[in-house]
Amino acid sequence: MSLRDCKAWKDAGLALSTTSNEACKLFDATLTQYVKWTNDKSLGGIEGCLSKLKAADPTFAMGHAISNGLVLIGTGSSVKLDKDLDLAVRTMMEVSQTQTLTPREQLHVSAVEMFAKGNFPKACDLWEQILRDHPTDMLALKFSHDAYFYLGFQEQMRDSVARIYPFWTPDVPLSSYVKGIYSFGLMETNFYDQAQKLAKEALSIEPTDAWSVHTIAHIHEMRAEVKDGLEFMQHTEGHWKDSDMLACHNYWHWALYLIEKGEYEAALTIYDNHILPSLQASGAMLDVVDSCSMLYRLQMEGVSLGQRWQAVLPVTKKHTRDHILLFNDAHFLMASLGARDLQTTQELLTTLQEASESPERRLQPAADSCRHQLHLQCS
Ligand SMILES: [Fe+2]
Repeated sequence: MSLRDCKAWKDAGLALSTTSNEACKLFDATLTQYVKWTNDKSLGGIEGCLSKLKAADPTFAMGHAISNGLVLIGTGSSVKLDKDLDLAVRTMMEVSQTQTLTPREQLHVSAVEMFAKGNFPKACDLWEQILRDHPTDMLALKFSHDAYFYLGFQEQMRDSVARIYPFWTPDVPLSSYVKGIYSFGLMETNFYDQAQKLAKEALSIEPTDAWSVHTIAHIHEMRAEVKDGLEFMQHTEGHWKDSDMLACHNYWHWALYLIEKGEYEAALTIYDNHILPSLQASGAMLDVVDSCSMLYRLQMEGVSLGQRWQAVLPVTKKHTRDHILLFNDAHFLMASLGARDLQTTQELLTTLQEASESPERRLQPAADSCRHQLHLQCS
């Protein structure tokens, strides 16, 4: 993989304030893995790249911005909850104030600061400002796309990409992935035909594009094409199963088709083999909500779950007092109810009530981008 150095970023109109080519390449490696939803072992994974990046240039502001932004996207945390994150954001701000950054970099730093404080809409406004002048800024595109996803802002997920899509000519690195990102926004706003066409284009260029696979999984779900959906997931599994940040969610979609067919044991097998192990390995918020909503669906269908809620509860329990997204809270509640942990349930509801009454807390609405996440059937 050819990674962009200082000159390559500058030539692309996305200059980075560092003299370290190593830091620039590691920034590119991190961004690429984020776009692909994959920790690439040959690159050292995202964490490996970020630690080398910080060593290469500890004052590289965009390195701090991507690092903090990825923690926020992956964990759904905030500076109010996480002392390490709080310190990391403070460091990012200090680093950015002791040098002259480009206006684009300054906006990135401010956006991540807003995101860290829980002000998702303001962060999105700042990323959109970047995209106005720098339509090929993939970090601004991905961060805003994912933040809109959390907010359930479906039209924005589509229009944010629609505005910049013409600038992503095939010569721009990662351009095929923009087709997949745009396609998801189209699907979320019911333009299924256009979404499918674009996702297939993306997959014809890069079959391992797990986000485009995910879009097609949604389209089959929304059209109640259970048989087609199952066949698609089976045929493509080899391409996306190693995208460790999204594979769990794609397996979750696969299991949804099985639930709709009434094949509960097969759905449970996917849960046991892929969804729970992913949750236990990552603790990522997407894996948390997938685990909870899968078990909750099966329980509503009358399926005996054994001790499965007890395996999820230790992960969700740590978030009982977070109250960052109501969408997440609803899933933590499923776990504490499922495990019959009355104390945790009571604590979650009491602190949620307090948070809703506190002027300092900024509760975000339920993210309904994955609309069927909270519904048993969407068709
Ligand atoms: Fe989904």
